[in-house]
This record gives sequence, structure tokens and C-alpha cells, in this order.
Amino acid sequence: MNGTQKSSTPAAQTALSHFRRGRSAGLLDRAHGFSAMLEELKSQGAYPTQYRLELLGPIDHEITVRDPFTKEPKRLTCFDSNSYLGLHLHPRVVLAARRVLDEAGYGTPSAQLLAGNNRWLHELEETVAQYHSREAALVFPSGYSANIGILTALLRKNDFAARDRFCHASIHDGCRFSGARGGTFAHRDPQALSRFLATNTGNGGSLVVTDGVFSMHGSVAPLPGLRSAADKAGALLMVDEAHATGVLGRTGRGTEEHFGMPGKIDVLMGTFSKSAGSVGGYVAGSRVLIDYLRFFARAAVFTASLPSCVCAGITEAFRVMDAEPQLRERLFSNKDRLVTALKDLGVSPISADTPIISIVVGSQETLLLAGRDLYVEGIRCGSVSYPAVPPDSCLLRVTVNARHTDDELDRTAEAIARIAARHNFPSRPFSSASSDEQEVM
Ligand SMILES: Cc1ncc(COP(=O)(O)O)c(C=O)c1O
Repeated sequence: MNGTQKSSTPAAQTALSHFRRGRSAGLLDRAHGFSAMLEELKSQGAYPTQYRLELLGPIDHEITVRDPFTKEPKRLTCFDSNSYLGLHLHPRVVLAARRVLDEAGYGTPSAQLLAGNNRWLHELEETVAQYHSREAALVFPSGYSANIGILTALLRKNDFAARDRFCHASIHDGCRFSGARGGTFAHRDPQALSRFLATNTGNGGSLVVTDGVFSMHGSVAPLPGLRSAADKAGALLMVDEAHATGVLGRTGRGTEEHFGMPGKIDVLMGTFSKSAGSVGGYVAGSRVLIDYLRFFARAAVFTASLPSCVCAGITEAFRVMDAEPQLRERLFSNKDRLVTALKDLGVSPISADTPIISIVVGSQETLLLAGRDLYVEGIRCGSVSYPAVPPDSCLLRVTVNARHTDDELDRTAEAIARIAARHNFPSRPFSSASSDEQEVM
């Protein structure tokens, strides 16, 4: 079986959405059905080139993987890393982590309210709070758990939470797990948000939640409109700055800086898994908010601290973000180069504002074929399907970073244009304020 073989799998059989809903008698019935679908996909050669490819070295602008067919090493240009500035490989960051690795070991096996509270964690929390000009910050083991922890601590059943339809899965889950009333509003639409907030007749608190930069589409949330809608309804505003921190704004401070609105986010959540190049999540805000979350965000209370060497590496990464603005400049000139080349070749990304350059492909079957063709061309992008996006709006997610070379960017634009023509990618621009209320994530 080689990577260029044509698939004959009908769309229904390859759709992950098939397994999300529906009933089955036994708990494992769905798993057995899914397993059969997976085997079918694997036998056709498309799946192994996209999901669970084995990396043989670091994630960088170029990666080496084990080819699933020949088992030999294969080099790919990689557009599937969230390390926008390449800081996970930066010598200063690696050295800072290594020093603490030698001093404190590779783990911090206790909760942060107990013995897991150490000077490297303190230093990280202070660094993050200062970076965002907030009074305090609290660290979580991941960005996912940060959103779950914050939302389930803040919201109760009689509260109301309004979240953008295309916000990250962890926000959807956090709102659902909290039991609060509310739901989703149309994507990046402050007027729809206002209308939705007006339906709230309860007497609890209200919260508006959005991504700052949308992780799948790369577009920026309309912060001014969302802030004023929240103010009119007396709601707090929470923004997930996972893809904005270190990227957006003149100094990389994120969505607030992009719009010239310092301090306008009430609950500022972020991750260390993107620009900081590591793992972990955080929330920054007033001391009152953070002191409360420190004791009531169960995802931070009932779990071990981040390893000290990781805390030290991240702290250094935040320092480098400020010390080396040329990294962000290179990131944006790379983004501009790829967007311009794609547009010149007739391919329109959903958004041209951020380094997440997503292209609508259509069905999941087309996505698998397009991703396989890219692999054959020596390129790795993100293949995004349901439940991250609606089943008929699958995406190629091309994430640019500061380490890509001009040649890599130009070759990739040409390859994508060829594959878009071959598979007839839809020319329609993505409908951002879609009336389709099908739930994603
Ligand atoms: C917007 C957004 N929020 C939260 C997360 C979760 O972050 P982590 O990977 O650090 O758990 C992600 C990760 O992809 C994300 O894109």
C-alpha cells in the first residue's frame, strides 16, 4: 500500500461525527464500530499519513517522521506546530529548564496548595501577571484544564454563560460541566451576543466567553463589540488568549493590545503550549479573582504542580518574548508571505490576520485525500475535521512560525494551490456568522 492510492471509502463511513451521537446497547458498541472504521481508513493509505505519524526528532519548521509505508525516515516541512516563535528550542529557554532539572529533578509530585508550591512556580506566576499587567496569576497543568477549572469554579446553575459558537472545546466543556444556563452565540457577532444576553431572565451572574484568536480559523474576536455587549448586560468578559499571547499586538500582549484596550478583559486565560512552547495553562486577573480560583478551581487544586524545570523554562520564554521582538516580526513577515503567495495562486484563507492560515477543504473524505497529497509533497499541515469544525467544513490548518524559510513558504503555497485545484476546494469564503447552529466541539 502506498501513500498515493485513491480512496474509495464513502463519506459516511469515514465521518467521526457518526460516532459522536446515536445510541448503542453496550458501552463498547460504539468503540467497536469506530475501530472498524479506523481499520478501513488505515487500509486505504490516507489516515497513516496524517494522524499519529511517528516523529523521530523535535517539532520544528522541518521534521523527520517514520514513513508508515516504508518505515524509513522521511523529512517534511511542518506547519503543524503551535510554537509560533520557536521558543521550545531557544538556547536560553532550554538552558533555564536544564539548570532546574539538575537542581530539582524532573517532576514536582505534590499539589500546588501543598508541597508543590515552590519558587519556580512563584516566579512563573509573577512573570505571567506582570506580562499581562494584572495583579496575580494562577497556573494549571494544561490550557484545557485551566478553562475547565476557571469556568466550573466561577459558574453555578443559576448563572448564565454566553460563548462563541466556535470557541475552543475546553470552553464548551467548562460551560457545560458547570451546569450554568446559556449557550452559544453566532461566531464573532456582538449583536447576536447582545440578543442572546437579553434572553437571560435569571437572577444569577453572567459571563461572556470567547477565544481571542480562534484556534481553528485564525480570526480575531471583535473585542470592542463583545466588551460593550457584556457591559450593557452587566456580564464579566473572559477571553482565552492561547493563540494571542506572544503573537498579537505591538509587543505580543494579545487581543487587548491589538485593539488598544489594555485591561479590558476581566478573566484572561492563556496557555504555555503555544508561544511559550511548552505545556500548562493560566489565568491572570485581580487578586480577589485569583485567590478565589486558587482554592476553588478543582483542576488546579486536585492535581500536581507543573514540574519546576518546566516552570523555569516558561519564565525564560516570556523574557525572550520581550527581549527578541525580531522573532514576532519574522513570524508576521512569514505569515504575510504565505498569505500573499496563496492569494496570488487563487487560494483564499479564512483569515489573513494571524499565523493560523486555514483553508476550507469541504468533506472529511476530501480532507484525508488532500492531507495525503501534501504528505507526498513533503508537507505536514493540520487536518481539522469534526468535532473541531462542522462536518462539511473541514480545514487544512497551516500554522506559520518564525523559523520557516522563504523557500519553505513558497513551495508550500504552490503545493496547496495544486492540491486545491485537484480536489476542487470550495471557493466560498467560510461563513463566519453562520446561521447553522449545529454544535461543534
Ligand atoms: C484556544 C485554545 N484554548 C485552550 C487550548 C488548550 O490548551 P492546552 O493544549 O495547553 O491544553 C487550546 C489548545 O489547542 C486552544 O487552542
